[in-house]
Amino acid sequence: MSFHNSLFTRRYMIVAGGLVMTFVLLSALLSPSYTTSTSSRLSWAHPRVQAETRHAASLDSVFNETLGFQKVFVLNLPARTDHRDSMSLAAALTGFQVEYADGVLGATVNDKYLPPGGEKAKLSEGMKGSWRAHLNIARMIVERNITSALILEDDCDWDLRIKSQLRTFAKASRLLVQPVRGAPSRLLDTTVHRHEGQKPIDIDINDQSTVQPTSSPYGDVDKWDLLWLGHCGANLPRATDETTPLGRVIISNDETVPQPHHLNMQFGNRDLLDEYANHTRVVTRTRANTCILAYALSQTGARRMLHELGVSKMSYNADIMMRDMCDGLDGRKMQTCLTVHPQLFQHHRARGPKAAFSDIANHKGEYNDQAFTRNIRWSTRLNFQQLLDGTKDYVDLFRDNQKGPDIGF
Ligand SMILES: *[C@@H]1O[C@H](CO)[C@@H](O)[C@H](O)[C@H]1NC(C)=O
Ligand SMILES: *[C@@H]1O[C@H](CO)[C@@H](O)[C@H](O)[C@H]1NC(C)=O
Ligand SMILES: *[C@@H]1O[C@H](CO)[C@@H](O)[C@H](O)[C@H]1NC(C)=O
Repeated sequence: MSFHNSLFTRRYMIVAGGLVMTFVLLSALLSPSYTTSTSSRLSWAHPRVQAETRHAASLDSVFNETLGFQKVFVLNLPARTDHRDSMSLAAALTGFQVEYADGVLGATVNDKYLPPGGEKAKLSEGMKGSWRAHLNIARMIVERNITSALILEDDCDWDLRIKSQLRTFAKASRLLVQPVRGAPSRLLDTTVHRHEGQKPIDIDINDQSTVQPTSSPYGDVDKWDLLWLGHCGANLPRATDETTPLGRVIISNDETVPQPHHLNMQFGNRDLLDEYANHTRVVTRTRANTCILAYALSQTGARRMLHELGVSKMSYNADIMMRDMCDGLDGRKMQTCLTVHPQLFQHHRARGPKAAFSDIANHKGEYNDQAFTRNIRWSTRLNFQQLLDGTKDYVDLFRDNQKGPDIGF
């Protein structure tokens, strides 16, 4: 599939460049009437959001202050000053800006105004608060017509190389959602409309045969709904998953991925460990993802989430409803949700009473001695001192060929 570095590619690029020039000249000649009528026709035909610009969205915009999204929001209960202190420090030290959105206490959610099914779903107070807080953010994205946003829970952590990891993720997500050059209706993932007998297909991260996106470095915002970047377990889609597309973008020799004996797949399957070499990261469609600790929404994705989780029905906890919406289960329509194995964002577990880990789950009376973040090698939070001092002796709890720390719970 990949024909990079070949003479063919160079010729192709010259021809494509010529076509772009012709298009630019033509639109300049014909505008404004041409542009107006085209965009109104398109927006009438598609309810999805239009591309912001006609320029290719550079992969390097992932390095900007909002990680290549329009905004980064952090969900934080104002009382959790501890979470907010570390989150602000972590974001500043790894070079991005966050905007806080208030978390919600379940007790303030009035049962009378839940979506249909809400009384029967019997969510705990913590779950109700979490549902409302995530939905408030999706609604704000819709109200402010934000093109794309990353949403983080305030206790999540990431590798201090997050920007280069996200750049690689963006290369991968493009390969799954952008059409093949010269074939606008074809995707590299030929299993998008599943039929029987199809098997997972591996796509090389260096494949260059898809069209450059224009409205987002992660792929045009009308082509994806949700990027589930932080989870506590997800399945690698399998042939037996009847409807999930099976394309897998393979990132080999990723030194930020711990060796298998350090990886904890939590609620996900073990296919990554069983089928791929050490230090492989894989980007796929979501399948049975759990925990919503970091995800990006496109404007279309935010509208769909507001509809599914807010208007249509309340069936379970927010993360299960999101999973159902992504996987097309429980009567919900399947959306274009991508994820990454292992995840790029993960809960940080600080030293201290486990009761402080969550405002939802209950860990009464237990104490955590070893601060850790599962599956993340150069944890930003474990390296605050190094980042502040500018030293490079980073803490890595998951060194190759060494025993890991005891974090067995
Ligand atoms: C970062 O890049 C994205 C995508 O190009 C853009 O939407 C966003 O506005 C940029 N952020 C900043 C702070 O310039
Ligand atoms: C939302 O923004 C898009 C461009 O990103 C624009 O085309 C559209 O008209 C805007 N919609 C509203 C309701 O403001
Ligand atoms: C992969 O990592 C495991 C430890 O998790 C190690 O035992 C094995 O030798 C490694 N495989 C290769 C090919 O290096």
